[in-house]
Amino acid sequence: MQKTINILMIDDSTSCRIVYRNFLTNSRENNYHISEANSPQEALEFCKSNQPDCVLVDYQMPDIDGISLMQRLQKNASLAYVSYIMITGFGDESVAVKALKCGAHDYLIKDTISALTLEKAIINAIEKSDLKRDVALSRQKLLKYNDNLESIVKKRTIELEEVNQLLDNKNKQLLQEIGEREKVQSKLHDRNNELAHASRLCIIGQMASELAHEINQPLSSIRIYSDFIINKMTSDLTNDKDITTATSGISKQSELAENIVKRIMKFAKKATPKQIEINVNALIAEAISLSSLEGERHGITIHQQLDDNIPPVWGDPIQITQVILNLLRNSFDAISNNDQGCNEIFIRNKTFSNHFVEISVQDSGKGFTPESLARAFDSFFTTKKEGLGIGLSISRSIIEAHNGKLWIDTNCKSGTIIRFKLPIKISDYTNNSET
Ligand SMILES: Nc1ncnc2c1ncn2[C@@H]1O[C@H](COP(=O)(O)OP(=O)(O)O)[C@@H](O)[C@H]1O
Ligand SMILES: [Mg+2]
Repeated sequence: MQKTINILMIDDSTSCRIVYRNFLTNSRENNYHISEANSPQEALEFCKSNQPDCVLVDYQMPDIDGISLMQRLQKNASLAYVSYIMITGFGDESVAVKALKCGAHDYLIKDTISALTLEKAIINAIEKSDLKRDVALSRQKLLKYNDNLESIVKKRTIELEEVNQLLDNKNKQLLQEIGEREKVQSKLHDRNNELAHASRLCIIGQMASELAHEINQPLSSIRIYSDFIINKMTSDLTNDKDITTATSGISKQSELAENIVKRIMKFAKKATPKQIEINVNALIAEAISLSSLEGERHGITIHQQLDDNIPPVWGDPIQITQVILNLLRNSFDAISNNDQGCNEIFIRNKTFSNHFVEISVQDSGKGFTPESLARAFDSFFTTKKEGLGIGLSISRSIIEAHNGKLWIDTNCKSGTIIRFKLPIKISDYTNNSET
């Protein structure tokens, strides 16, 4: 189907308009709808209510020239993309160039216009102005997209800032919580140490009679030696050798008593737990020596099956001694409440998976009942008349504070085995095992 092209011809020469009209109405290519204006005023009036596709405008007209008229028409937004062809007289090429610069899409020289050149110029001019309109529309769209994009970026930036702020607040909150948790943990740690200390004082209180007996022995000896010296001095039978023997006896026994008191004081001391290298065998020896009289009183034999090359562990020697002492004293109680007649305790050590040292205390006592097994680590749980029920719970928290583990071996057929393990001081052990 042929397209209809709306043409406005502006020319004060009627004959020219007739010629152009004839050219176009005979066209086989397109269908032209032609309007005419014989003056600029008529053209301006016409364009108020019409929008042609192409305007043929004569340069030389009375009152106003073709270029000024074209510029006035172009100011009207609805005519901004209409195509304009300037028609100039012969020899007016400079005018044609000016017209092109001012927005005309093509120009024709009056005397050379033919049907072919006119139609070709119209089609070209329309194509150009269409192109110009497309470019302008695309630019507008692009600007709109840009605006949209900018507003999206702005919105996203604000959202991001809000999220960042939220995150900042959460972080601050978290740091505060961590700080508070650390405070609580350090308080808990202090409490545990205080409890461990209180429990040591309890142990000393419970062992008071045995300890008094132990100190009493050297004190009695000292008294005997002193009496002996006094007798010798008063009876005039002074023998220098006897006096020397007696005084050196006094000195030795005082030293013995002093050592016992020192050991008790060391054990009872309230000190910040240390983190030092520990030889567990030395601590086992110390615990046995502190409780030996009690053991003897119950007629109990303590067997030590210890590996002398056990690697060192890392921790507080007083607290670990306290654990071993707790286990030994529980074993004494369990054995003395048992009528089996087998009064034995075995203390063993071994290296466990190359990462831990394990110590076990096995006794031939009456063993745990299902109830005491279930509640053994509850604070203040005791089955004893004079018991406090804190020995096992404190022992376990001491071992756990040393990154170890303490447990009752439930595979034990008779009596009890309690085990605990402590991490090996790695660097030393690997160094030792490499050499
Ligand atoms: N070696 C053991 N054999 C049998 N029962 C034990 C042994 N060690 C602990 N128990 C049980 O666990 C309970 C809790 O022990 P512990 O916490 O040391 O408190 P206490 O010795 O003051 O009773 C004991 O009362 C006892 O019933
Ligand atoms: Mg106990």
